[in-house]
Amino acid sequence: MSELRDAALAVRENAHAPYSGFKVGAAVRGASGRVYAGCNVENVAYPEGTCAEAGAIAAMVAAGETALTDVYVVADAPAPVPCCGGCRQKLAEFGGGEVPVTLATVAGAEQATTIAALLPGKFDAGFMA
Ligand code: THU
Repeated sequence: MSELRDAALAVRENAHAPYSGFKVGAAVRGASGRVYAGCNVENVAYPEGTCAEAGAIAAMVAAGETALTDVYVVADAPAPVPCCGGCRQKLAEFGGGEVPVTLATVAGAEQATTIAALLPGKFDAGFMA
Protein backbone atom coordinates (compact mmCIF):
# COMPACT_ATOMS: atom_id res chain seq x y z
CA MET A 1 0.00 0.00 0.00
CA SER A 2 2.85 2.41 0.65
CA GLU A 3 3.68 2.59 -3.06
CA LEU A 4 0.21 4.01 -3.73
CA ARG A 5 0.35 6.31 -0.71
CA ASP A 6 3.77 7.59 -1.71
CA ALA A 7 2.57 8.28 -5.26
CA ALA A 8 -0.58 10.04 -4.05
CA LEU A 9 1.31 12.17 -1.54
CA ALA A 10 3.90 13.15 -4.14
CA VAL A 11 1.43 14.12 -6.85
CA ARG A 12 -0.68 16.03 -4.32
CA GLU A 13 2.18 18.51 -4.06
CA ASN A 14 1.48 19.47 -7.68
CA ALA A 15 -2.24 20.04 -7.22
CA HIS A 16 -3.50 23.29 -8.74
CA ALA A 17 -5.96 24.41 -6.09
CA PRO A 18 -5.69 28.21 -5.79
CA TYR A 19 -9.45 28.64 -5.29
CA SER A 20 -10.26 26.03 -2.67
CA GLY A 21 -6.78 25.77 -1.19
CA PHE A 22 -7.56 22.07 -0.85
CA LYS A 23 -4.93 19.87 -2.48
CA VAL A 24 -5.82 16.25 -3.21
CA GLY A 25 -3.67 13.42 -4.54
CA ALA A 26 -4.86 10.10 -5.94
CA ALA A 27 -3.11 6.99 -7.16
CA VAL A 28 -4.58 3.95 -8.88
CA ARG A 29 -2.96 0.63 -9.70
CA GLY A 30 -3.70 -0.72 -13.14
CA ALA A 31 -4.17 -4.42 -13.82
CA SER A 32 -0.57 -4.48 -15.12
CA GLY A 33 0.64 -3.47 -11.68
CA ARG A 34 1.71 -0.02 -12.81
CA VAL A 35 0.74 2.95 -10.65
CA TYR A 36 -0.84 6.11 -12.05
CA ALA A 37 -1.21 9.35 -10.13
CA GLY A 38 -3.35 12.46 -10.45
CA CYS A 39 -4.06 15.67 -8.57
CA ASN A 40 -6.94 18.11 -8.59
CA VAL A 41 -6.66 20.85 -11.21
CA GLU A 42 -8.94 23.81 -10.53
CA ASN A 43 -9.97 26.52 -12.96
CA VAL A 44 -11.04 30.12 -12.57
CA ALA A 45 -14.30 28.99 -14.19
CA TYR A 46 -14.96 26.81 -11.17
CA PRO A 47 -17.02 23.98 -12.72
CA GLU A 48 -14.18 23.25 -15.14
CA GLY A 49 -11.94 21.96 -12.37
CA THR A 50 -11.13 18.27 -12.18
CA CYS A 51 -10.64 15.97 -9.20
CA ALA A 52 -7.49 14.06 -8.33
CA GLU A 53 -9.22 10.73 -8.98
CA ALA A 54 -10.16 11.84 -12.50
CA GLY A 55 -6.54 12.78 -13.18
CA ALA A 56 -5.23 9.42 -12.03
CA ILE A 57 -7.81 7.58 -14.13
CA ALA A 58 -6.96 9.71 -17.16
CA ALA A 59 -3.26 8.88 -16.75
CA MET A 60 -4.08 5.16 -16.57
CA VAL A 61 -6.26 5.24 -19.67
CA ALA A 62 -3.73 7.36 -21.56
CA ALA A 63 -1.15 4.67 -20.82
CA GLY A 64 -3.40 2.05 -22.41
CA GLU A 65 -4.97 0.45 -19.35
CA THR A 66 -8.69 0.21 -18.64
CA ALA A 67 -8.84 -1.83 -15.44
CA LEU A 68 -7.81 -0.72 -11.98
CA THR A 69 -7.23 -2.93 -8.94
CA ASP A 70 -6.48 -0.51 -6.11
CA VAL A 71 -7.19 3.15 -5.30
CA TYR A 72 -5.67 5.59 -2.79
CA VAL A 73 -6.82 9.17 -2.17
CA VAL A 74 -5.14 11.60 0.21
CA ALA A 75 -5.83 15.13 1.40
CA ASP A 76 -4.79 17.32 4.31
CA ALA A 77 -7.99 17.18 6.31
CA PRO A 78 -9.08 16.29 9.84
CA ALA A 79 -10.47 12.99 8.57
CA PRO A 80 -10.21 10.96 5.33
CA VAL A 81 -12.11 12.74 2.56
CA PRO A 82 -14.76 10.78 0.65
CA CYS A 83 -14.64 10.79 -3.16
CA CYS A 84 -17.27 13.01 -4.77
CA GLY A 85 -20.22 11.39 -6.52
CA GLY A 86 -18.80 11.91 -9.99
CA CYS A 87 -15.52 10.28 -9.05
CA ARG A 88 -17.36 7.29 -7.59
CA GLN A 89 -18.97 6.74 -10.98
CA LYS A 90 -15.61 7.25 -12.74
CA LEU A 91 -13.93 4.67 -10.51
CA ALA A 92 -16.79 2.21 -11.11
CA GLU A 93 -16.23 2.50 -14.86
CA PHE A 94 -12.79 0.91 -14.51
CA GLY A 95 -12.94 -1.14 -11.31
CA GLY A 96 -15.15 -3.90 -9.94
CA GLY A 97 -17.13 -3.43 -6.77
CA GLU A 98 -14.57 -5.37 -4.77
CA VAL A 99 -11.72 -3.02 -5.62
CA PRO A 100 -10.26 -1.56 -2.42
CA VAL A 101 -10.29 2.21 -2.00
CA THR A 102 -8.24 3.79 0.77
CA LEU A 103 -9.20 7.31 1.85
CA ALA A 104 -6.41 8.95 3.79
CA THR A 105 -5.07 12.07 5.42
CA VAL A 106 -1.59 13.52 5.10
CA ALA A 107 -1.21 12.92 8.83
CA GLY A 108 -1.68 9.18 8.31
CA ALA A 109 -5.29 8.32 9.12
CA GLU A 110 -6.74 5.77 6.70
CA GLN A 111 -10.27 4.56 5.98
CA ALA A 112 -10.64 1.39 3.95
CA THR A 113 -13.65 0.98 1.69
CA THR A 114 -14.52 -0.42 -1.74
CA ILE A 115 -15.97 0.87 -4.97
CA ALA A 116 -19.23 -1.00 -4.28
CA ALA A 117 -19.54 0.54 -0.83
CA LEU A 118 -18.93 4.00 -2.27
CA LEU A 119 -21.46 3.55 -5.07
CA PRO A 120 -24.32 1.21 -4.22
CA GLY A 121 -26.93 0.80 -6.95
CA LYS A 122 -24.57 2.03 -9.61
CA PHE A 123 -25.69 2.80 -13.13
CA ASP A 124 -24.04 0.52 -15.66
CA ALA A 125 -24.42 -0.53 -19.28
CA GLY A 126 -26.84 -3.30 -18.33
CA PHE A 127 -29.56 -0.72 -17.85
CA MET A 128 -29.27 0.31 -21.49
CA ALA A 129 -29.96 -3.19 -22.86
N1 THU B 1 -11.48 17.00 -4.68
C1 THU B 1 -10.79 15.96 -5.24
O1 THU B 1 -9.89 16.16 -6.06
N2 THU B 1 -11.14 14.70 -4.87
C2 THU B 1 -12.04 14.40 -3.90
O2 THU B 1 -12.23 13.21 -3.60
C3 THU B 1 -12.78 15.47 -3.21
C4 THU B 1 -12.58 16.83 -3.76
C5 THU B 1 -11.08 18.37 -5.04
C6 THU B 1 -11.99 19.10 -5.97
C7 THU B 1 -11.65 20.53 -5.67
O3 THU B 1 -10.52 20.92 -6.45
C8 THU B 1 -11.25 20.51 -4.21
O4 THU B 1 -10.99 19.16 -3.88
C9 THU B 1 -12.29 21.08 -3.28
O5 THU B 1 -13.53 20.47 -3.50
